[in-house]
Amino acid sequence: MSEIAKLSFDGNEYELPVTEGTENEKAIDIAKLRGQSGLITLDPGFKNTGSTQSAITFLDGELGILRYRGYNIEDLAEKSNFLEVSYLLIYGELPTQEQYDTFAKEITYHTLVHEDIKKILDGFPSVAHPMGVLSSLICSLTAFYPTSLDPNRTDDEIMLSIVRLMAKLPTFAAWAYKNKMGHPVNYPDNNLDYCSNFLKMMFALPAEKYEVDPVIAKALDKLLILHADHEQNCSTSTVRIVGSSQASIYASISAGINALWGPLHGGANQSVIEMLEAIKEDGGDTKRYLDKAKDKNDPFRLMGFGHRVYKNFDPRAKIIKKAADEVLAKLGVNDPVLEIAKELEEAALNDQYFVDRKLYPNVDFYSGIIYRALGIPTDMFTVMFALGRLPGWIAQWKEMRENNEPIGRPRQVYTGANERGYKEMGNR
Ligand code: CMC
Repeated sequence: MSEIAKLSFDGNEYELPVTEGTENEKAIDIAKLRGQSGLITLDPGFKNTGSTQSAITFLDGELGILRYRGYNIEDLAEKSNFLEVSYLLIYGELPTQEQYDTFAKEITYHTLVHEDIKKILDGFPSVAHPMGVLSSLICSLTAFYPTSLDPNRTDDEIMLSIVRLMAKLPTFAAWAYKNKMGHPVNYPDNNLDYCSNFLKMMFALPAEKYEVDPVIAKALDKLLILHADHEQNCSTSTVRIVGSSQASIYASISAGINALWGPLHGGANQSVIEMLEAIKEDGGDTKRYLDKAKDKNDPFRLMGFGHRVYKNFDPRAKIIKKAADEVLAKLGVNDPVLEIAKELEEAALNDQYFVDRKLYPNVDFYSGIIYRALGIPTDMFTVMFALGRLPGWIAQWKEMRENNEPIGRPRQVYTGANERGYKEMGNR
């Protein structure tokens, strides 16, 4: 018999079923609580609210475990590649060679985008942040593929939309950068693998020969794997909630890109480098910035530190820190902000404020340093995160749809004025 939780309130007792996941996580199911008692639960920021039951990603914040479909992130980062991980997230199993080849071929086939999308791109000023450009171009796919608006489209049509997203996001991401630079865009090169094609579209110039550096392509591939999914975070929850209204997958992913943009989420990678640069310009006094982060009257936060779920360490940060050392050594890059980052990390990990609050470096603390070494400009960092997170968003959107989940619609506790009569303008 399944377990029951009991809630007593106002002389009444309510029985609530307890649900258990495959990793023995337990949750009190409160879906019927309001009907039974008139009570709702209140949890701003959904700090302790499960919004769904999902079979995609497991993470244990206390033990620093992250698994996609049961596979440890350390194994995937070491042995797999981004397209294989994308297949795993979207379909639930690792592909056979034949399945992998078909998946990769279909994605390669759809990398080109409609020429008219260039006209939309041309409308953006060069100061436009690439994340805004990216989300707009992704949303514009609803106009170029209007059948995607039909909530009853077939599974084959949905799979075609998914392949189009995987194929076209790198093209849009590179074009967002070209727009910023005022350079002509590059078209995809379908002879190259996923990351090499993206790098060529980003960096090739008409007047110069461009060869993709395999060290850079490999490092980027690993970063994308580390970012590929992270269960019900802000952007993923956004994708699921927009999708739950039966909006098109393109609109849902576009919304996810916007949610990712903020500095408390994916935008942190850009903020970390800006913070490290500011500390360097300011003479490298890490202690002063640590003090600022601890001062409750100062809005400054140590960017790249802290996580809603990880309370001992972020396993992605461990892998990224090691990769940062390797990539910088391989490319012969000597980045002075790396030293500042290490000094800041060391100081924070030994500081009572950070120890008490269990604040550790997260995935974004070192990723910006690698992106910089790979030649990626700062305001493209969050775009790289979006490139990596795309298969996760897709898998989560697909799962939400297959589970036939109800529209996302939280409750609230109203704290405004009670009923009052309208007064004419002259009588106020
Ligand atoms: N610097 C200084 N103090 C912090 C920081 C920080 N980076 N993060 C949390 N705290 C303090 C916070 O002030 C609070 O203190 P107190 O208990 O005295 O009020 C306590 O730690 C708990 O913080 P919280 O804001 O309640 O925690 P949260 O779970 O709501 O927020 C977070 C998580 C990631 C938004 C937050 O740690 C933060 O703002 N970090 C900096 C931004 C960042 O690096 N974001 C990237 C997250 S990882 C990439 C991703 O998946 O999005």
